[in-house]
Amino acid sequence: MVVVLMCFKLVILFVLVSLAVAEDLSFTYHGFRSANLSLDGIAEVTSNGLLKLTNETAFKMGHAFYPNPVTFKNSSGGTVFSFSVTFVFAMRYPDLRDHGIAFIIAPTRGLPGASSSQYLGLFNRTNDGSPTNHVFAVELDTFKNTEFKDINDNHVGIDINGMVSEVSAPAGYYVGERVITNGQPVQVWVDYDGSKKQINVSMSPVSNGKPYIPLLSLTRDLSPILNEIMYIGFSASTSKLTACAYVLGWSFKLNGQAEEIVLSKLPKLPPLGPKKRSKHLTIALPVITGSSVLLALLYGVHFAIRRKKFAELLEDWELEYGPQRFKYKVLYIATKGFREKELLGKGGFGKVYKGILPNSKAEIAVKRESHESRQGMKEFVAEIVSNGRLRHRNLVPLLGYCRREGELLLVYEYMPNGSLDKYLYGQPTVTLNWSQRFRVIKGVASGLLYLHEEWDQVVIHRDVKASNVLLDGEWNGKLGDFGLARLHDHGADPQTTHIAGTFGYLAPEHTRSGRATTSTDVFSFGVFLLEVACGRKPIETHDSEVVILADWVFCCWKRSNILEAKDPNLGTEFVAEEVELVLKLGLLCSQSEPAARPSMRQVVQYLEGDHILLPELSPLGVSASGLSFAHKESFEEFATGTGLSHSYASESSRLSGGR
Ligand SMILES: Nc1ncnc2c1ncn2[C@@H]1O[C@H](COP(=O)(O)OP(=O)(O)O)[C@@H](O)[C@H]1O
Ligand SMILES: *[C@@H]1O[C@H](CO)[C@@H](O)[C@H](O)[C@H]1NC(C)=O
Ligand SMILES: *[C@@H]1O[C@H](CO)[C@@H](O)[C@H](O)[C@H]1NC(C)=O
Ligand SMILES: *[C@@H]1O[C@H](CO)[C@@H](O)[C@H](O)[C@H]1NC(C)=O
Ligand SMILES: *[C@@H]1O[C@H](CO)[C@@H](O)[C@H](O)[C@H]1NC(C)=O
Ligand SMILES: *[C@@H]1O[C@H](CO)[C@@H](O)[C@H](O)[C@H]1NC(C)=O
Repeated sequence: MVVVLMCFKLVILFVLVSLAVAEDLSFTYHGFRSANLSLDGIAEVTSNGLLKLTNETAFKMGHAFYPNPVTFKNSSGGTVFSFSVTFVFAMRYPDLRDHGIAFIIAPTRGLPGASSSQYLGLFNRTNDGSPTNHVFAVELDTFKNTEFKDINDNHVGIDINGMVSEVSAPAGYYVGERVITNGQPVQVWVDYDGSKKQINVSMSPVSNGKPYIPLLSLTRDLSPILNEIMYIGFSASTSKLTACAYVLGWSFKLNGQAEEIVLSKLPKLPPLGPKKRSKHLTIALPVITGSSVLLALLYGVHFAIRRKKFAELLEDWELEYGPQRFKYKVLYIATKGFREKELLGKGGFGKVYKGILPNSKAEIAVKRESHESRQGMKEFVAEIVSNGRLRHRNLVPLLGYCRREGELLLVYEYMPNGSLDKYLYGQPTVTLNWSQRFRVIKGVASGLLYLHEEWDQVVIHRDVKASNVLLDGEWNGKLGDFGLARLHDHGADPQTTHIAGTFGYLAPEHTRSGRATTSTDVFSFGVFLLEVACGRKPIETHDSEVVILADWVFCCWKRSNILEAKDPNLGTEFVAEEVELVLKLGLLCSQSEPAARPSMRQVVQYLEGDHILLPELSPLGVSASGLSFAHKESFEEFATGTGLSHSYASESSRLSGGR
């Protein structure tokens, strides 16, 4: 009888325990050596138990999932249970900060099709934001991506099915402290209350404990988002810039409070900062102390020289631009001391050097400009930093800057194929075929549309031209120098109307009023279209006669053979309709009447052939069709108006600053 009773009790106990297990999953990891996580991408568990999601390999991602499924709901139509999770992570950046890490709840043990870079390994361009994703994430992001409306370059956000956070806040224990980026471990807590439908996210540097007030709080029912069975884990990715994303410990509980992580049990992170010093130094140290006086003296002299060599200007107002600011020393090392061999080209305002960042080995282009005027420097730098936040696949990414006495250095991503102009004019050794050219044209158009209409504020490029279009390794066209032309106005004598931009690309009303608008950009873009299709410069002199490209194309059209104007180097491999479209669109954009020019949005639609055809234009009924050209007149008016009508060379060098 007693035995039976015992058995009965045991069975009851067993049932209770198994029920509890089924409902209330919980686990705690201090290091992951024995965790049997499900890893993919470049994620790995290091020999001392750190979960390392990404390393210094560019354009990769890493995922790590708890190996077993987690039951988040009673039934598919049910409500999501409460859960609580806490983890400790750290980011290590070789050079620049970029991207971050995310805690995720996903329908599969992995995220098929996800992209690296800005998508953090969570989504891709097509599925970003789709309600069919069923993904919940807490992102800890160290890059301000305007595409996703990020609030700053160091923030925490709750993402549901897409990269645009539902709510976000600057990362911090108390406002203003940069906790993700100093490389030290940070603890994060994510709590969901299934009855109140509330999500709280808190964070703090380890050993400070859980803050009383959450950093983020969102009231949102997760029931429609999470399926019955889900997987939990982490994701991180790298772009051209890399970072090592580490998770040190992780604790989770369904329907209850996650067990606290014991910090002393966590594995050690690799040491911060430069590579480990050699052991020889420690052994040799006692020997050295003897001659330390001499050494200190030598060192002092050496240091004084170095200081002068690597001196830079840094003022208080720049401190908030920390991440975009490069050390001069880093750029000096990257470009091998600005060696002539590394010179990529000379622009209107300075020389451009190729460089390789010492730690991440990312290739960069450093533009070194001399800057006499200190006036306006603050606005200048603010604009550079804000331009650095513009991200579009057809804009050359501006990574940051550095400032020295009388000098400004701008750091761009390196474009292996250089600028477009060298494939167009004269007798180029390599030329581009039509499909390459058409792709570049469409790319530049969408980049310019982004600047005009798709960012927080209207950005006017002011210097659209073939030599400002750079080609990456895959021959994608990217606009460079965006928005910077205006900066070159700073410090100019306000009495003289110094117009930034390049002669031959300037709209007539621009030269008259000195005001750049989106429609003056469209004008320059029109000239650019003609350049690319014709393989000619906008203004050429043949036997001391000035030939204005647009007028010449227009003449060809009037002779009812517009294709005559196309670049002979194109050979026979071209699509006549596309060439014709580009030539006509070029004329349409470079009309002297600003109101008659299309907007960049319309230009993109014409180029994409979105069932929108160019308005029926005829070169004959000029007044009727509204097509108006006054290139010649405007040119003359311009030349005499500024009192410099003698030679094009001097005029153009003044306007484009030296070419
Ligand atoms: N990001 C880059 N990657 C590779 N080459 C570059 C880059 N930026 C500029 N260059 C090279 O340096 C030259 C001068 O650039 P830049 O100063 O921008 O010229 P510009 O004053 O004509 O706009 C370019 O023609 C190009 O060959
Ligand atoms: C990054 O990790 C992957 C996979 O573990 C490895 O193949 C690669 O060599 C690593 N790269 C670096 C730079 O450590
Ligand atoms: C580890 O997880 C995999 C599934 O990801 C599972 O097949 C395997 O049995 C697990 N191994 C151990 C030792 O738990
Ligand atoms: C799960 O469903 C059962 C009935 O199907 C219900 O009694 C129980 O309370 C539910 N549990 C939770 C946590 O909602
Ligand atoms: C995006 O991801 C989805 C699945 O998550 C996949 O079906 C699709 O092919 C991916 N798209 C691209 C462009 O990679
Ligand atoms: C979120 O934080 C608020 C304020 O501290 C608290 O009242 C609430 O209970 C928290 N909710 C959860 C799910 O932890």
